[in-house]
Amino acid sequence: MTKQQIMDYLNSENESRRLLFAEAVNVKKQYVKDIVYLRGLIEFSNICQKDCYYCGIRKSNKRVERYTLSDEEIIIAARYAFDNNFGSIVLQSGEVKSQKFTDRITKLLNSIQELSSGKLRVTLSCGEQDSSTYRSWFENGACRYLLRIETTNKTLYKQLHPDNDNHSFENRVSCLENLKNLGYQVGTGVMIGFPHQKIEDIADDIIWINEMDVDMLGLGPYLLQNNTPLSQKSNLLIPEASRLDLSLKTIAILRILMKDINIAATTAMQAIDKFGREKAIKAGANVFMPNITPSKYRDNYKLYDNKPCIDDSPEDCMNCTDIRMAMVDNIIAYGEWGDSKHYLGKSLN
Ligand code: 5AD
Repeated sequence: MTKQQIMDYLNSENESRRLLFAEAVNVKKQYVKDIVYLRGLIEFSNICQKDCYYCGIRKSNKRVERYTLSDEEIIIAARYAFDNNFGSIVLQSGEVKSQKFTDRITKLLNSIQELSSGKLRVTLSCGEQDSSTYRSWFENGACRYLLRIETTNKTLYKQLHPDNDNHSFENRVSCLENLKNLGYQVGTGVMIGFPHQKIEDIADDIIWINEMDVDMLGLGPYLLQNNTPLSQKSNLLIPEASRLDLSLKTIAILRILMKDINIAATTAMQAIDKFGREKAIKAGANVFMPNITPSKYRDNYKLYDNKPCIDDSPEDCMNCTDIRMAMVDNIIAYGEWGDSKHYLGKSLN
């Protein structure tokens, strides 16, 4: 696909839009089937050393109550996922760089291996870390890592982040490369429809992600968070429905281009449309992440406003998953790891 074709798809309406989604459905059926893998999402801490202009848990946001789950609470959540046959979990948090944090995660990874006899796959999403930290986590049982690039346009990157060493585009890219070299299944993604972003930028993101040859993808619409600096530019935003539509098209294009990667139907989609995640599955996504964070903490992991499922319990999210996936005629692969076929294919070569 040329950049122009990608842009045409992103701009498509009516028949050409329909054709895009039909092709994505075909590719999905052929390469990853109508099967959805589960990842129990544990948002274990909202403490963050970063100050990203768009994010509700940025360091400077004094209006959010900070929390960290205890080791015991994390283990209970992991056991819940294991007992309910999820096959895998995601441990996500704000970004903290310290020996203490590294060691804590290493210890938790060991406990999770133990409780599941090595049968629960663990994905980490804890930001930019040194290669030695990534290595230690990999050696102790983490096998997948999510680190979104957010945007591949360096000028836009600087508009989304403070211009300092702690928020460097180059460092984020080198983290992704380190993760890949260590043997992780690597996931990245972008936000769609934030102020100043153009269709051409999204096309460049798509090309970049394809060239990075990642194994997993998680992307979603940019959503307003009122206590962030970027919310002051809300007058520049395209409508939420357009942000969702562009996100769905981006998923469809990347499914067609990358064929056998794992693509997540992210929560941000559901913040705009109550069936946003189902629409993402229809557009080519094959991973669903029920939130299994204990209810009492959820209100404080609001990266954006109107985050759904804030009052739900892990059980609610579990029951809802069955219903939602049945609605879109996808089968949930209970008990399966759901490793990225793209990754497995690479290691065979
Ligand atoms: N809108 C949409 N997505 C957001 N994220 C953070 N803040 C927002 C927001 N306001 C996304 C980022 C990050 C992921 C964990 O959540 O892409 O990588």
